[in-house]
Amino acid sequence: MLSKIYSVGLLGIDGFTVTVEADISSGMPSFEIVGLPDATIKESKDRIRAAMRNCNLPFPSKHITVNLAPANMKKEGATYDLPIAVSIMVATSTIDKEFLDQSVFIGELALDGSLRGINGILPMAIAAKSNGFERIFVPSENAQEASIIEGIAIYPVKNLYELLEHLQGTSPIIPIFGNSSGVLRNNGFYGVDFADVKGQESVKRAVEVAVAGGHNVLMIGSPGSGKSMIARRIPTILPDMTNEEAIEVTKIHSVAGTIPPGESFMSKRPFRSPHHTISSAGLAGGGPNPKPGELSLAHHGVLFMDELPEFHKDVLEVLRQPMEDGFVTISRVMGTVAYPCNTLFVGAMNPCKCGYHGDEEHICRCTPQSIEKYRSRISGPLMDRIDIHITVPSVKFNDLHSKQQGERSTQIKQRVDKAREIQLSRFAGEGIFSNAQMSASQIERYCALDEDSKNLLELAYSKLGLSARAHSRILKVARTIADLDDSMHICADHIAEAIQYRRLDRDYMGV
Ligand SMILES: Nc1ncnc2c1ncn2[C@@H]1O[C@H](COP(=O)(O)OP(=O)(O)O)[C@@H](O)[C@H]1O
Ligand SMILES: [Mg+2]
Ligand SMILES: [Zn+2]
Repeated sequence: MLSKIYSVGLLGIDGFTVTVEADISSGMPSFEIVGLPDATIKESKDRIRAAMRNCNLPFPSKHITVNLAPANMKKEGATYDLPIAVSIMVATSTIDKEFLDQSVFIGELALDGSLRGINGILPMAIAAKSNGFERIFVPSENAQEASIIEGIAIYPVKNLYELLEHLQGTSPIIPIFGNSSGVLRNNGFYGVDFADVKGQESVKRAVEVAVAGGHNVLMIGSPGSGKSMIARRIPTILPDMTNEEAIEVTKIHSVAGTIPPGESFMSKRPFRSPHHTISSAGLAGGGPNPKPGELSLAHHGVLFMDELPEFHKDVLEVLRQPMEDGFVTISRVMGTVAYPCNTLFVGAMNPCKCGYHGDEEHICRCTPQSIEKYRSRISGPLMDRIDIHITVPSVKFNDLHSKQQGERSTQIKQRVDKAREIQLSRFAGEGIFSNAQMSASQIERYCALDEDSKNLLELAYSKLGLSARAHSRILKVARTIADLDDSMHICADHIAEAIQYRRLDRDYMGV
């Protein structure tokens, strides 16, 4: 007896259809699974046998061969337990074909026959729907996550026995139907606001410029100066995500299993702040069952790396290519997986090892050599991808005790939104969206300087000893400052401000 049912596998953050065929014939009792990696097969077999037995479903003592196709696609994880068990049940019991047509089965089995929640249900449901399936059977724990997809019936399954009763038509499971209206309703609530940050006007301005142009930013300041506080508020001034962006973010978090409890849709821009002990795989993604890393979990949001020089050199090295490409590629035995990682990078560091170089209230005991060594832990190529570096001074006592509220995030965001709109229309059809993404030729085209600003830049070069790498960054940032100013042309003022944001170029050693 032959049966054929469908499931979905994951490649990166996208799903693909998997066919599960079971052939059951008389002969020596045996149970073979073809098309899964060896390591997972044995465990899967044991779980399926025990789950069926514990649900009072006879496991046929016959010659059983299960085949998962396509053979050349890597299939990882335990999500094929359910479809394999169903294929065996179908081959050995009386199940009406009409209950199986257009259906997809996904889920890991526990030994008692109940279903365990799995990661990646959202991209799987999306794939099932776009491949024309009408029904998807998922662990009940995952049903809510799948329910933001419209146009496919979602059947929450608690255990194998309940599913068999449904398939035999004796006790149907009530499906839920997804609804995507309202998914973006709670957009914009972050629980923090830039108004909480007292004083620090110049830092807030620099952050506004960074966000407006999509420029990566590095904050240098003593402990307690408010770097983390400011970083955490950056998502509140980023433009709202589009529906497509939010779905992409949710897919990544679905695959990684990091959707916050009680939520099914991630409409807020992510903020990720990995600890400096993180591994390369933790940051970029990977592992035996590949998962997106922090870089991708921050997709369309903010990746905050506090105490940047404390990260391992190899880990910082991993950032380089993905920051350039907007995705991480992970090599696997059976091909590569790509995870998107279009993020705003925000770094923070102390000015020196003791933390107080340049601080008015504390004495720094570091030698010039140790300061140089500390700062050089961040490699040139990484620095090349950071357009803006700024000093965060200690908060002034008067500012801290002032009753005056700072500007609210919504007000700052309005200016950011306007500057982003200007950039979107400037780059329409060019495949980029922000000033930070400009290539050398685009810089030439969109960052023409008048005589005054050219002179100023030249002066800065000779006086401040700017490095060559500073040049294109100053132009890009000046373009953003001009956009915030709603100015077609880059003026000397804009260049002057952009030069302020090259802290580490201006004087590598000093205050
Ligand atoms: N500008 C500020 N306005 C209000 N509170 C501040 C400000 N700067 C720092 N603080 C307070 O000091 C605490 C420490 O700041 P934090 O962001 O952790 O500093 P850093 O990351 O630079 O070490 C914050 O949680 C906040 O309570
Ligand atoms: Mg901090
Ligand atoms: Zn010091």
